[in-house]
Amino acid sequence: MKIAILGTGNIGSTLGNKWIKAGHTVYFGTRNPQKPEVQALIKKLGTNAHALSIDEAIKSGEVLLFAIPGNTMDETITAHAAALDGKIIIDAANKITSPVIDSLGTFAAQTPKAKLYRAFNAYGWENFENPQFGSNTADLFFCGTDGESRTTLEKLIADVGLNPVYLGGTDQAPLVDSLLKLWFALSSGQKKGRHLAFKVLT
Ligand SMILES: NC(=O)c1ccc[n+]([C@@H]2O[C@H](COP(=O)([O-])OP(=O)(O)OC[C@H]3O[C@@H](n4cnc5c(N)ncnc54)[C@H](OP(=O)(O)O)[C@@H]3O)[C@@H](O)[C@H]2O)c1
Repeated sequence: MKIAILGTGNIGSTLGNKWIKAGHTVYFGTRNPQKPEVQALIKKLGTNAHALSIDEAIKSGEVLLFAIPGNTMDETITAHAAALDGKIIIDAANKITSPVIDSLGTFAAQTPKAKLYRAFNAYGWENFENPQFGSNTADLFFCGTDGESRTTLEKLIADVGLNPVYLGGTDQAPLVDSLLKLWFALSSGQKKGRHLAFKVLT
């Protein structure tokens, strides 16, 4: 698939690396494609990695991952709403200082035809780099539009190496976000470390 990733930091680079290894083409949308760190990332990830402006990356991707600071989400969505509408959008950004930490409301208002997902926001990036815990594979809890695009999401989650667990439509975003609180309570509050994830046992 053609995946556009906005943000070239911890989350963007980790997921981009995994998706390229799985055979996808990744277009990083960055404020400065020529920045040495961005060029080094592209070089490291190989010929299926591209550095573009945010505008160009959005146009190039069938799936969009938002991996930029939470406090830049609303302005970025507003600036690119027309190009984003109709795409499959994954919101991995956390508005840490806001009561609602996801941006699905802004997307729903500005990109009403987009297929929206909340995923990859509730674990530290280390767990995307290495989702294995001995013989156990971490679960990745997500929510969003049901149907064909959900299958795409499940494939992309599996391509990172995690087991997808669907929690329902976009109305379940608070449930997904509550897992981030649990993750912080254990990893940081209880000092269990950042390589920590969850699994459903039935
Ligand atoms: N770190 C984690 O473990 C983790 C886990 C789950 C979710 N998240 C969430 O994922 C998002 C990214 O986290 P991160 O740790 O990857 O952050 P990061 O390492 O600081 O990278 C953020 C990237 O966003 C881009 N950026 C910064 N300001 C921007 C702006 N004003 N407009 C557009 N792009 C901008 C920058 O890319 P360019 O310089 O190339 O433009 C930067 O590399 C955050 O919302 C965070 O809450 C993080």
